[in-house]
Amino acid sequence: MALSFINPFHNFFLLLFVLLLTVLFMILKIQSKKKNQSIFSNSPPGSLGFPLIGETLAFISANGCIKGLYDFVERRHLKYGKCFKTKIFGETHVFLSSTESAKSILSGDSIDFSKRYMRSIAELLGDQSILCLSYQNHKFMRGIISNLFTSNSMDSAIKNFDELVIRTMAEWQQNETAVVLNDAMKITFNAICKMLISLDQEEELEALQKDVSEISEAMVAFPLKWPGTRFFRGIKARERVMKALRRKIDMRRRSSAYYEDFLQSLLARNDMQNEEPLSDRQIEDNILTLIIAGQITTASAIAWMVKYLDENQQVKETLTAKQLELQFKFTGNANLKLETLSEMSYASKIVKESLRMATIVSWFPRVALRDCQIEGFHIKKGWIVNVDARSIHHDPMLYADPFEFNPSRFDVELKACSFLAFGTGGRTCLGINLAKAFMMVFLHRLVTTYRWRVADKNPSIAKWSIFPMLRSGCPIKIAPIVTHNVIP
Ligand code: HEM
Repeated sequence: MALSFINPFHNFFLLLFVLLLTVLFMILKIQSKKKNQSIFSNSPPGSLGFPLIGETLAFISANGCIKGLYDFVERRHLKYGKCFKTKIFGETHVFLSSTESAKSILSGDSIDFSKRYMRSIAELLGDQSILCLSYQNHKFMRGIISNLFTSNSMDSAIKNFDELVIRTMAEWQQNETAVVLNDAMKITFNAICKMLISLDQEEELEALQKDVSEISEAMVAFPLKWPGTRFFRGIKARERVMKALRRKIDMRRRSSAYYEDFLQSLLARNDMQNEEPLSDRQIEDNILTLIIAGQITTASAIAWMVKYLDENQQVKETLTAKQLELQFKFTGNANLKLETLSEMSYASKIVKESLRMATIVSWFPRVALRDCQIEGFHIKKGWIVNVDARSIHHDPMLYADPFEFNPSRFDVELKACSFLAFGTGGRTCLGINLAKAFMMVFLHRLVTTYRWRVADKNPSIAKWSIFPMLRSGCPIKIAPIVTHNVIP
């Protein structure tokens, strides 16, 4: 009886003791797990999606949405913050959007990260493309390509681009409307092909442009090499481009004619005894790379610039007045060159502000070469780390009213790594000066030749575009203000 009186209390205290011990044990376990995580594996937030395919389907389907491919990144940036992870095409990707991480990942002396594009992109551009090379091979190729951008070759490319712009804008008069993106694509393509391989035959240019656009579309497609798929079409287009370039190289070797272009310089370099020669494959892959890296980026930036100017009439009026004054000073029709463009400081700020707002290359991928910590998060060897330039360009801590088009923000010096339109460090864009020059030439000719307004203000992004391109193409309505821009 006594026992039965004591037992319930005894049992109760025993149970309470065991319960407390369990709770204590669990708390300690959670705390130790958290501690271990923060020291060894404080993984960035984010979802790795489904087994095997990860979030690849969501990434690919963003291609078709009106906000474009970047929408995939933006949604996760808003949900998880400045650092998050995801899984695309079988690889873990981390996106980072602070100037500090941009500096540590992109700076020339970073030994923890190397450039890495998705395997499918390397297959389309070729494994000898400068965009896909690492370390010494990249240094070697970058040295060779950067030497091709001499002030002479630049001036001749700018002159050619200027002539094409003047001719195209003269043709606009017949229709009173023009689609900026379409013409900018054609003009930029023709000017780059002339600079690289002296191509100026209309039929050849059209065939090559069609193939190049199939290759660029395949760069963001699912890498399935089945007949009928977008990726398969891209691979076939690459084969045709390679064949055409090989024919051109053979023809140059057999002929004694001299061409003033990049191809000729590369072939001449191979004849020099003290220079390490380039294989034909190295030349072909890099000519294709320069066309792809230069055409869509520049043309798309031109169309965005026209749209932003239209939305900011005050800036447009100021620019037009300044450019008309300069036009008078340059004696009207003289072709533009680097020297004359250097006098267009306001136009240059408009180009920069357009590039910030549009951020044509939205993020820059690198591969982590070893386990490391960034922003307090653990990054594993082999993960792809992407610097999210678009988010940096729209960070209110770096740019006041970041969605406002304000060229004067470039009157003052910016914080390091806050303007990344052309990247930074050892992989900085090799076409940086050429692209800016092309944009300024287009701008100058447009505002000194026509009064114009954008006819379709829809900001939707084109489908299947590796860079954000206006779906509308940016059509403008035009009325001539001066009629004397003829080819000198
Ligand atoms: C507005 C136009 C352009 C923009 C916004 C742009 C942007 C960029 C960016 C951001 C990078 C670096 C990517 C990274 O670090 O991962 C890059 C690299 C590159 N760009 Fe451009 N680019 C433009 C025009 C051009 C033009 C006209 C050419 C040449 C015809 C060109 C050739 C290259 C090359 C060869 C690289 C690779 C450099 C290397 O890996 O060492 N780009 N570009």
